[in-house]
Amino acid sequence: MALDGTRGLICAGGEATRLHELTRVTNKHLLPVGEWPMIYYPLQLLQRCGIDEVLIVTGQNHAGDFIDLLGDGRLRTRDGASSLFELDLTYKVQRKAGGIAEVVGMAESFAAGQNLVVCLGDNLFEYVEAEPIQAFAGSGGGAQVFVKEVSDPERFGVIAYGDDGRVLDVVEKAGSVDMRYDAPPSSDAVVGLYCYPPDVFDVIRRLEPSSRGELEITDVNRVYAERGELSVARVEGWWRDAGTHGALAEIGELVARTGVNKLATAEVAGRA
Ligand code: G1P
Repeated sequence: MALDGTRGLICAGGEATRLHELTRVTNKHLLPVGEWPMIYYPLQLLQRCGIDEVLIVTGQNHAGDFIDLLGDGRLRTRDGASSLFELDLTYKVQRKAGGIAEVVGMAESFAAGQNLVVCLGDNLFEYVEAEPIQAFAGSGGGAQVFVKEVSDPERFGVIAYGDDGRVLDVVEKAGSVDMRYDAPPSSDAVVGLYCYPPDVFDVIRRLEPSSRGELEITDVNRVYAERGELSVARVEGWWRDAGTHGALAEIGELVARTGVNKLATAEVAGRA
């Protein structure tokens, strides 16, 4: 099913210094995870949601390699036997790393008044959250984020809940980026998959850089939370952020063992 009125964005910039020697001469998102370059996974996720117009934002150094690899987005396996992607790709270059919200802001003309589904290029998911994304596309405003309970919430953006379970706040790396909190207010990490309505660009224009000098996606999500317009859905199955040293091989094995970007059975039947 095509998702009308919704376009996709993949954030694929950054220096990736956390990967040390691996990213001296290439971009993190081109490194192998299992049998594929990392960026194939968010591309497949968006395609399986029914989104075919996708913008990739990357840094200047290796931008040409993305075009060499992905071309216009219509890609077949190397033996030509089957189709990998049937996407319509657009590329943009971010001059220096200024935060995820800055990258989203760069998508304004591309989004052209439509909804935007944003994937961080290093986030991998066992299941495609097609149902909440399609529900979001059919709703009339507000933003949608996804959470997963983690054992190290200080490394992520997390949700703060009230006693009644209502979303009160969104907090980026408590104690290191967001100094209002010494410790994370919950273990629900906000994962790198976000859905925004067209007014997200007005929200981004009003942001101030955080203590790490970036425009934070968490600050965007907080604006929606304060308006009572932030929906939170729980990710099913596993979720991994592949931006950390030592994670690539482990995630590759996980992908081989369990599969990745899986659709619920009913959706698979509809797309076979
Ligand atoms: C980013 C976001 C954070 C989110 C995480 C998910 O962190 O800022 O809110 O939880 O991605 O992977 P970063 O990897 O930029 O430090």
